[in-house]
Amino acid sequence: MHVFVTGGTGTIGSAVVAELLGNGHTVLALARSDSSAQTLTDAGAEVLRGGLADLDVLRSGAAQSDGVISLAFSPNYSSPDALAAAITEESAAMAALGEALIGSDRPIVTVSGTPWVPGRASTEADPPPTDGPVGGRGRSVNALLELASRGVRATAVRMPRTVHNEGKGGFAGLLTDQARRTGVSGYPGDGTQRWPAVHALDAAVLFRLALEVAPAGTAWHAVSDEGDAVRDIATVIGRRLSLPIETVPEETFGPFGAIFAMDQPASSAHTRAALGWEPTHPSLLDDLENIQP
Ligand SMILES: NC(=O)c1ccc[n+]([C@@H]2O[C@H](COP(=O)([O-])OP(=O)(O)OC[C@H]3O[C@@H](n4cnc5c(N)ncnc54)[C@H](OP(=O)(O)O)[C@@H]3O)[C@@H](O)[C@H]2O)c1
Repeated sequence: MHVFVTGGTGTIGSAVVAELLGNGHTVLALARSDSSAQTLTDAGAEVLRGGLADLDVLRSGAAQSDGVISLAFSPNYSSPDALAAAITEESAAMAALGEALIGSDRPIVTVSGTPWVPGRASTEADPPPTDGPVGGRGRSVNALLELASRGVRATAVRMPRTVHNEGKGGFAGLLTDQARRTGVSGYPGDGTQRWPAVHALDAAVLFRLALEVAPAGTAWHAVSDEGDAVRDIATVIGRRLSLPIETVPEETFGPFGAIFAMDQPASSAHTRAALGWEPTHPSLLDDLENIQP
């Protein structure tokens, strides 16, 4: 397939581009800067210049392709307003991509997040959260999946809290950044809350499988580690950076504080059984050993 990819330079997107190119597909990738365009060209992709807010560019990318993988998101977590603006931009982009495919039966795979369910690991059958600071992302994914009834093979691959590669990325990466800034490897609460995780190279395989074979309207869990205790994550970060490991107030983590404090394990049993996906890359705790002081 000729696949239009947004976010192809990111932690997940760079792995997805390589996975597609390594498995017989070609890639048309959105690039908003010269440096991103160069990175994508070097990776072997064809480049379409533009940003997430350029809806005509997105429609054109979708029209030129046999399928779409939507990953771009402006990671601005500096304030609730900045986060809300990023979500609004992503929602409009996703709607434009989906609408461009109506009636074509072509696939679009979008990124989503694993839900949280009190007392048990969430499954692919649980709905995404549609309220709270990131509820808008759940609502736009739901709207995209509803296009299944209008001739779009729309699917969602749900990410756990940390998608990592070489010890970087995701919520664990935010803990590492915070530790470097403050001199303390901090975690909220008592640190027994669990966050699921996956290696970006394993997540990339699932994006390809969803693109190739997943039925319209379905959601999948790219979960390798069902749940790592946050204190265990902070412990590896603290040891690698030679910093003290301590509980810190939720507010330290800005708009994400409440989410950081929640126990949110997630299962991928259905994804593994139905799509034959099997992660092979290091777990989060092993990958964090790559953090350099
Ligand atoms: N990593 C995780 O742990 C994790 C967990 C859950 C969900 N997710 C979601 O998965 C997706 C990809 O994550 P990631 O970690 O790979 O992200 P990332 O490393 O932060 O990369 C973001 C990508 O989006 C592109 N982008 C951002 N704003 C853009 C804009 N306005 N116009 C065009 N492109 C734009 C960036 O392009 P440039 O190269 O130009 O900056 C980059 O390719 C995101 O939606 C993220 O929220 C990630």
